[in-house]
Amino acid sequence: MSSHAPIAGEIATLSPLGKTDTQLLNRIRNKRVKIAVLGMGHVGLPTALSLAAMGWTVLGADSSQALVSQLQAGEAPFYEPGLETLLKEHLGKRFFPVDDLEKAIRESTVLFLCVGTPQKSSGEADLSQIESAARTIAHNLNGYKLIVEKSTVPAITAHWIRRTISRYARNGNHGSRPAEGSMPLQFDVASNPEFLQEGVALKNIFKPDRIVCGVDSDRARQIVEEIYRPFESPLVVTGLSTAEIIKHAANSFLSMKISFINMVADLCDAIGADVTEVAKGIGMDPRIGPDFLQAGIGFGGYCFPKDLRAFIYLAEEHGVNFSLLKEVENINQQRVDVLMKKLRKALWVLHDKTIAVLGLAFKGGTDDTRESPSLRVVDALIEEGAALRLHDPKAMPLLQKVLPPQEGRLTYCDNPYSAADRAQALLVLTEWPEYRTLDWARLRSEMDVPLVIDGRNLLDPKDPRQAGFEYISIGRPEQ
Ligand code: UGA
Repeated sequence: MSSHAPIAGEIATLSPLGKTDTQLLNRIRNKRVKIAVLGMGHVGLPTALSLAAMGWTVLGADSSQALVSQLQAGEAPFYEPGLETLLKEHLGKRFFPVDDLEKAIRESTVLFLCVGTPQKSSGEADLSQIESAARTIAHNLNGYKLIVEKSTVPAITAHWIRRTISRYARNGNHGSRPAEGSMPLQFDVASNPEFLQEGVALKNIFKPDRIVCGVDSDRARQIVEEIYRPFESPLVVTGLSTAEIIKHAANSFLSMKISFINMVADLCDAIGADVTEVAKGIGMDPRIGPDFLQAGIGFGGYCFPKDLRAFIYLAEEHGVNFSLLKEVENINQQRVDVLMKKLRKALWVLHDKTIAVLGLAFKGGTDDTRESPSLRVVDALIEEGAALRLHDPKAMPLLQKVLPPQEGRLTYCDNPYSAADRAQALLVLTEWPEYRTLDWARLRSEMDVPLVIDGRNLLDPKDPRQAGFEYISIGRPEQ
């Protein structure tokens, strides 16, 4: 129990469990209930499989029939190291993909909400999928349910989920804190934000630094403790909104570290200092820490940019001008220009030049190109009339569907050496480990001009330089 001891006292004052609650908890303790995970995306699928691995029977529900068929065939719908192996291991034993959300809800006692929360043009989170899931739950409330919100959502969404379920429940069920004399409690809502990083999702999910769970009933707290008992990570129990804010604050803080080091990199460029050494020097201070101080072309992906905007929006809605985070976003937007300026400075005119681009995913270890800074560079290069030769170890099959090849202008290449063919510059834009060990002499023989711009400070400058390359990076001295 020690590592699982709740930290917050807020919920300790809630009423003790009744007899039916004790029976419910016993059923959960003996794993005689099912868990449904609603939404089989980057968070939902790893969550479902980790729960299956811990011995739970899990229904992985998604309204996309195509996605469910893919899962039923044992195929992971996106690249995540180890995920497909785990899927094959538990498929049909403890993990059951289904496209009937209603059935999944009716058969399960614990429901993890992992549906998408994209952003509107205003930056506000679009919660229509959450709201729709809440209504579906309400219509299928055939007994007690714990609804665990895992998608990243603005604070107070959990309260809205509870209100929505109460309002739409057909059989008079009510969430916790019922009015005196009303029906017995039939569901609770908990907020359990996910901190997994794409590319290392399974490592994060099986051994998280902490598990944060916001609850407002003792029953919900005990169920969550039961579910996470095998994970042996500290469980931080808070109120609902606090848990929601923890997620936003964590992502925003990490984004802030990246924008901070990127500005330091620009200064290092201007005065000839080395940002990687600065990062090392400041990161050794435990109050700062070494992570997320890698300067480059900025942060992308489905989470940081969207969550940052949603946090700014949430603050604004509540009368708080979070100008610090607005600047974090501005700085990030300008990172692509920093790289483009370096390229123009080296090659002058880009029109009709052949540029090799290594790395299209928003970071290494994933095939995800959502809000990828690399794609913003690709767009800028297309705009300037350059011919592009692209490579990424994983992202190309999915990307080609939305950005098709164009004869002589946009070519997807099987390997980095083919991408370098007759190129006048090579850009490294994603931190894939395999780009660290490229054969620079071979690349040199493929290229027209031996110029490399390392947009992620990924390479050891010695390697390309020894092969005769001009090596340019972000915030590191050029010689
Ligand atoms: C991020 C958080 O790290 C997770 O904790 C969180 O659960 C997740 O968002 C989410 O909200 O779902 P993720 O989007 O997978 O995870 O990617 P990160 O590894 O955080 O990287 C984000 C971006 O920052 C990438 O584009 C990466 O290249 C960039 N980055 C990261 C840097 O530019 N510098 C760094 O030092 C670190």
